[in-house]
Amino acid sequence: MKKALLAAILFSVSAAHAGPVEDRASLLDQYRQALPKIRFEDYVLGTFSMDAAAKSQYDDIMSFPPFSVDLDEGKKLWEKPFGNGKTYSSCFDNGGKGIAANYPYYDEKLHRVVTFENAIDACREANGEKALSYGGREMGLVTSYAKSLSDGAKVDVKVEGKGALSAYLDGKRYYYEKHGKYACSSCHVDNVGKTINDEKISMLIGQASHYPEFIDGTELTTLQGRIRQCARNMGAKPPELNSRESNDLEYFMTYMSNGLPMQTPVFRK
Ligand code: HEC
Repeated sequence: MKKALLAAILFSVSAAHAGPVEDRASLLDQYRQALPKIRFEDYVLGTFSMDAAAKSQYDDIMSFPPFSVDLDEGKKLWEKPFGNGKTYSSCFDNGGKGIAANYPYYDEKLHRVVTFENAIDACREANGEKALSYGGREMGLVTSYAKSLSDGAKVDVKVEGKGALSAYLDGKRYYYEKHGKYACSSCHVDNVGKTINDEKISMLIGQASHYPEFIDGTELTTLQGRIRQCARNMGAKPPELNSRESNDLEYFMTYMSNGLPMQTPVFRK
């Protein structure tokens, strides 16, 4: 067989098999080559994994975090009975423990990605309460606490079935396409560990496992809120909170963190 033909056949076989599993494996390979000293478990630390002094400062802050009062407030909101006497925990298996690691997921009946925030609102509505403002403080506090019930659980986002795959691919496309001056991947895939405006750039893998976070220890920030900040910096129109675009992007990004332990909330600079 001619070499070119063989190459074409091999290419089409590998292209036919390419999917989320292969995407993640090849991204991991790329990071291992770019950042050989950083262990996989430490990807959750983002840029703190690249700088020992910053990591030690991070450890100090995390041992007595300024946001522990906010986390207490989140706990109170989580435990506060709805008008009908039930609480959030009644909506989730195991009272909500360890479940956040499976979000977002693709809902076959709704034909869309369901984020953890969507599940919180669905719980409220099923109990006769109004939905919360998606990027609002109350939603941020409730999810900070509720997700902390999954600390240590490994992110386990599934992409199974046609609809799920298509949502994943839409999220992936957004990530690799140029918006404004850059693509998300220009920095968080192609330039990890490099410095831009005095800041090192973190890897995509490990970003979605620790949200909400508190910037400067005080400013409650959700994953979609943080994505919007980067989009603005790129000169792009930030994707709307809770839009199909944002939720598909979150789905793709969280899938990439599969296998890493959850920790919520955390400190970031
Ligand atoms: C020009 C470079 C650049 C581009 C393009 C960019 N970012 Fe960022 N991003 C940064 C820098 C710098 C930071 C702060 C340091 C860090 O944590 O990586 C950051 C931080 C983040 C964080 C927080 C990480 C953490 O652990 O706290 C997320 C999430 C993120 N970016 C997502 C995105 C997404 C999604 C896009 C595309 C819409 C994007 N970024 C585009 C440079 C960029």
